[in-house]
Amino acid sequence: MPPTSRRVLIVGGGGREHALAWKLAKDGAEVLVAPGNAGTAGIAENVPLSATDVAGLVRLASERKVDLTVVGPEAPLVAGLVDAFAAAGLRVFGPTSRAAQLEGSKLFCKQILHRGDVPTAMFQEFRSVAAAREFLEAREDVPVVVKADGLAAGKGVFVCDDRAAAIEAVATLGSDPQFAAAAKGILIEERLDGVEVSVMAITDGRTIITLPPLQDHKAAYDGDQGPNTGGMGAYCPTPFVDAELLADIEARILVPTVHAMRRAKVPFQGVLYAGLMLTAQGPKVLEFNARFGDPECEALLVRLESSLLELLDAAADRRLETVEPPVWRDGASVTVIMASEGYPGPVEKGRLIRGLDAAAAVEGVEVFHAATRLDGGDVLSDGGRTLAVTAVGGSLAKAKLQAYTAVKQIRWQGAWCRKDISDKAMAHELGVAEAAAEASGE
Ligand code: AMP
Ligand code: GLY
Repeated sequence: MPPTSRRVLIVGGGGREHALAWKLAKDGAEVLVAPGNAGTAGIAENVPLSATDVAGLVRLASERKVDLTVVGPEAPLVAGLVDAFAAAGLRVFGPTSRAAQLEGSKLFCKQILHRGDVPTAMFQEFRSVAAAREFLEAREDVPVVVKADGLAAGKGVFVCDDRAAAIEAVATLGSDPQFAAAAKGILIEERLDGVEVSVMAITDGRTIITLPPLQDHKAAYDGDQGPNTGGMGAYCPTPFVDAELLADIEARILVPTVHAMRRAKVPFQGVLYAGLMLTAQGPKVLEFNARFGDPECEALLVRLESSLLELLDAAADRRLETVEPPVWRDGASVTVIMASEGYPGPVEKGRLIRGLDAAAAVEGVEVFHAATRLDGGDVLSDGGRTLAVTAVGGSLAKAKLQAYTAVKQIRWQGAWCRKDISDKAMAHELGVAEAAAEASGE
């Protein structure tokens, strides 16, 4: 048998990394987190290295004899952390820099989708603002989505109702310095309508293990109003993807993508995350990420009963076909993000957070820290998405109740959250039940 990891290093410092540390510690690993947060400090050893300090992380993993490194965020993947670890003979879970271009370059992603014949929005590619503008002016006035090619912290996507808005978005990409690198290529995409869901799979480049489907809540405010964020909450599983649709997504989207990557000589090992739109023509890819979603990871891992360590080990060793399928807890989970005042814009940091113990005492609840730091014995807020309050329950309604019961225990100046995480699922289930009752003549 290949060695099972004992000492694991998790790279990152958000809610996803706290959930990974929590689960891997439960699986029996000794966990280091770089840089971690106040939450990971309680269950693991925090090491004060930035997630993108590739040379420092290689040194740390060598010196501390780390058996497996798990990379949370996209920036270190794109920066080549996995390549550097592999070159140093260190085991690591995550895609190489080239494979992470599936997330890092929307144009590369489209090329792979085309190769794999995977359904996605139609698009045109432009190398200058002027060319993109000319195209929009010459074309019918229809809703489109304007995207910068490269990584832009989720901000380089503009969903536009009409031509005027699209022209403005292109102008913003051309003039705003924060998009200077990302906007060297511009995509103009057909705007898709439907329900958005997240489906992730763990893959070693050949074999894939598809994970239960989730739904994120990207808009800042209730009812999907307000600016786009990194995600204000998630729940698992989502009833919008039943077993049949999940099998279809695996067969028509995930497997062909993994194969297309291998054929392109860019094998993908790690988490393949598909952001999907369920359209009238079936599921279509909006984007791929090369890592666990956040907050999806938190809602997912509280339902995983079997070992995550075993899965990640097997993927890193390219022997995923040898592991048993994961076992999931019955029922559902809900993650509610508690954010600081100002998010998704600039936020005040350093506010004292109270009530964490009372929240953690609520049945079925885990409070994952997303942006916190310790100050003596105090936990202080340290960013926008601050906590990921997560609950499991026998049903979605129960999980939601437990999560919000815990949220009510937590206080800091300026704290806020969405109140409607998972409501879309409940409305959907109600609709399905009503339709069934009608069909049976009740
Ligand atoms: P992306 O970073 O490409 O996932 O885009 C961010 C968000 O923009 C997605 O989560 C969707 O809500 C929205 N979006 C992206 N592409 C499209 C599209 N072609 N049609 C409609 N909405 C889109
Ligand atoms: N929750 C969306 C993401 O992680 O990109």
